[in-house]
Amino acid sequence: MEFSVITVNPAKVETDCLVVPLFEDGDLLSAAARLDDASERLIAQLLERGDFAPELANVQLVPFAPGLSGERLMLVGLGKRERFNEGSLRKALDAAFASLAKLPVASAAVAFTDATLDDRDIAWSAQMTLEAAIRAVYRFDQCKSTPIPAAALSRVELIIDDAKHSEAAEAGARIGAALGDGVNYARTLGNLPGNICTPSYLAAQAEEMGAGSGGNLSVEILDEAQLETLGAHSLLSVGRGSEEPSKLIVMTYQGAEDTDEAPHVLVGKGITFDSGGISIKGGAGMDEMKFDMCGAASVFGTMKSVLALKPKINVIAIVASAENMPDGRAIKPGDIVTTLKGLTVEILNTDAEGRLVLCDALTYAERFNPASVVDIATLTGACMIALGDHASGLFSNDDDLALDLLDAGEASWDRAWHMPLWEDYQQQLDSNFADLANIGGRPAGAITAACFLSRFADKYPWAHLDIAGTGWTGGKQKGASGRPVGLLTRYLLDRENEHVVTDET
Ligand code: BES
Ligand code: MN
Ligand code: ZN
Repeated sequence: MEFSVITVNPAKVETDCLVVPLFEDGDLLSAAARLDDASERLIAQLLERGDFAPELANVQLVPFAPGLSGERLMLVGLGKRERFNEGSLRKALDAAFASLAKLPVASAAVAFTDATLDDRDIAWSAQMTLEAAIRAVYRFDQCKSTPIPAAALSRVELIIDDAKHSEAAEAGARIGAALGDGVNYARTLGNLPGNICTPSYLAAQAEEMGAGSGGNLSVEILDEAQLETLGAHSLLSVGRGSEEPSKLIVMTYQGAEDTDEAPHVLVGKGITFDSGGISIKGGAGMDEMKFDMCGAASVFGTMKSVLALKPKINVIAIVASAENMPDGRAIKPGDIVTTLKGLTVEILNTDAEGRLVLCDALTYAERFNPASVVDIATLTGACMIALGDHASGLFSNDDDLALDLLDAGEASWDRAWHMPLWEDYQQQLDSNFADLANIGGRPAGAITAACFLSRFADKYPWAHLDIAGTGWTGGKQKGASGRPVGLLTRYLLDRENEHVVTDET
């Protein structure tokens, strides 16, 4: 998606479609007012006659507009001023770009930065705009015999009021574009079926990303033999029932001037299909367990954004990938495995496999002396029950890290909610036969899963994002969401500023 920032009179902008937001109450915003002046009060009349109600996410296309150089005019409702927040802007943007993506328009000139919010600058709204545009033109047709027609929209112009904000708007748009591409990449990996997107496929994706990075991303793939030598028996136990070999994928991005600067590590759960194993799942909706690598997908998507934006920080991405299948060789309830850390785990349920691959990846992360480690996993149905598809569950052994992630989630409107990780819950993992069990019973299932991981994350500031509810959408709109690429990218970009600040003090 191409973009540019323009400050000319919106009435004079030659574009396939002018797009202006409108509140239900109050005066017309800047661009809308100028278009109204130039078009014999077209907008005001539409509103007065009740032909357009600017309720949130209401969209109206005006195919011809007198006095305007744009070919079309699109009005987008923002709802009531006092109820307007980040979420409403995103809803309006999504509605507008979804409509635009269906029209034969190649270019759109949009004025969403007119709809300001306290605490959010023009860079922020420019970022939201580009991200929304790119998400809207996303198509997944790799598995269709005839392609879904691509959206015509390929160019977005941001109409801003004041030239002194051009640079900020451009910088924000650049982040939004990189983020949108990262989100769409994560969606594609998530949407690919389990017979295509295997652990080996993910490993090949990492190699490809490394090869195309101009030397900015180095990639190492650990195969089963290497994992065996290392002692990652817990990770390996999950893939034992599968024909697909397990992989530990490590991607290293060195952006900090000091190559020794402690890296931020992302760890993704990459179960490319979760049948439950011997503790097999019920049949209903089992296809959705191809999405059990959405944590890994978000790590890939975030690395893609990072490569586009090149922040001056070091980032290491680790993807623990396996397929969880029942078979004569598969792990069984009651089996005990020794983790890479040396702790033994009694596997009471083979469907609690995410934590079994993640625990070894978390131990592997120790070798990088990380500044922070964040794992992302479609870990528990319990988290989906607790938070639905609005918030990712956030668990952490470090309150500063938790706050940074919550902030990043708010800023990118890819929100997380802080859950308790109290000592009190740990005893649910007691085992009569091993150091710990891999399940903690039904109560607080998302928390005990996080407790399990915490036992392996005691050497660094660590957080866990349970994206079981947020990683994909079910039902008719079934598909991977690309979350939490927004949160993670913002988190990493903010670490760059943090680094500058600590250097100065
Ligand atoms: N991948 C699932 C979690 C999941 C289930 C995500 C449904 C989204 C929707 C995970 O591997 C799993 O099966 N977890 C079990 C844990 C239980 C056995 C303790 C679960 O949540 O039921
Ligand atoms: Mn499972
Ligand atoms: Zn799973």
